[in-house]
Amino acid sequence: MQDSQHPSLALTGRPVISATGLFTPPESITNAELVESFNAFVDRHNAAHADAIAAGEVAPLAYSSVEFIEKASGIKARHVMAKAPVLDPAIMAPRWDERSNDDLSIMAEIGVAAARDALARAGRAPEDVDAVLCAASNMQRAYPAMAIEIQQALGIEGFGFDMNVACSSATFGIQTAADYVRAGHAKSVLVVSPEITSGHLNWRDRDSHFIFGDVATAVLVEDAAIAPPQHWDILGTKLKTVFSNNIRNNFGFLNRAHPETADAPDKLFVQEGRKVFKEVVPMVAQMILDEAARLGIDPEGLRRLWLHQANAGMNRLIAHKVLGHEASEDESPTVLDTYGNTSSAGSIIAFHQHQADLTPGDTGLICSFGAGYSAGTVFVRKVG
Ligand code: COA
Repeated sequence: MQDSQHPSLALTGRPVISATGLFTPPESITNAELVESFNAFVDRHNAAHADAIAAGEVAPLAYSSVEFIEKASGIKARHVMAKAPVLDPAIMAPRWDERSNDDLSIMAEIGVAAARDALARAGRAPEDVDAVLCAASNMQRAYPAMAIEIQQALGIEGFGFDMNVACSSATFGIQTAADYVRAGHAKSVLVVSPEITSGHLNWRDRDSHFIFGDVATAVLVEDAAIAPPQHWDILGTKLKTVFSNNIRNNFGFLNRAHPETADAPDKLFVQEGRKVFKEVVPMVAQMILDEAARLGIDPEGLRRLWLHQANAGMNRLIAHKVLGHEASEDESPTVLDTYGNTSSAGSIIAFHQHQADLTPGDTGLICSFGAGYSAGTVFVRKVG
């Protein structure tokens, strides 16, 4: 296979991960800070509705608790793009100045930061990249695509487009990029996942206010022919979707067709957490085992699992099923304790932060799962 721009370059059609990048917002919220703010909101709400509550017309809101959050989810803190307004009981949402169309949008800005990190680690110049995929749970606007704005900011020729598969956006992006490489349509593709989840989280909902955090990741998927000496061979990718109402976000451009419910709680993230837990764990564990068998990989020989970061208990169960024993932190590292659930970025943060110590020949698995339901597996082997 030849590269059309560089006819002398013989491409292999074998996709690899050349590097990853990470942008972490400087501000972070601990569970104690979050619960203090939430409980202040509860006090305000219950005081404002005291008469209706006394008359039995309105149910009082209950306090959140640090102990519950940590025990039920494993989350201890989360990064956010704007801490003060999120913690202000009168606001409880992100706030920043609206930017003009001539300024880089905030979602593109953090995507660019993560992308630059990945490019620098790969020793890659933007002009060598052929495509940008912005793969994330939410897009800041409908168009022009976030990916095209990121492409323009980095100075990349070629093409870009947005894709949304909720928590599995990044792994679906990796497969899409890998398929471009396999087909010879591109030799270098950036998969960027800016996740500003603080914008879709209902900070006033006790059941979910602790779940999410903000971050951006980038994965550079390239043809093995141009990869830096140290990279990860992509051994196989597999995607799966199964419709479920158990995780929903009904925000969309048609909300204005029924203005009376345009700001209802279902226009933010809502889930039946228990059901998600029970249904997704067996689905994902089986998917991993089936894909490992298809690829001829012994799952018990996997050196490391970089799993989606939603719930420590889910990861414990999935890792146990895959490895055949209780996974150590070394075998299945956790980042949700300090990042929270960062949607599609979670497994990529884990991979980014916990891969340098592995040795050439080590095989591991990047795996995401979430709303849709959706799940993606990317089996990788270290080279160099
Ligand atoms: N503080 C204190 N108590 C709380 C609370 C809070 N913030 N939120 C809920 N509770 C209470 C509930 O009211 C309930 O009380 P009850 O037993 O008296 O009815 C109890 O704690 C258990 O609630 P439940 O919602 O069943 O908790 P859980 O153990 O299922 O944990 C999640 C909740 C969300 C952490 C967990 O279900 C989860 O992580 N699921 C998977 C989510 C996931 O992966 N989603 C993918 C998104 S991308």
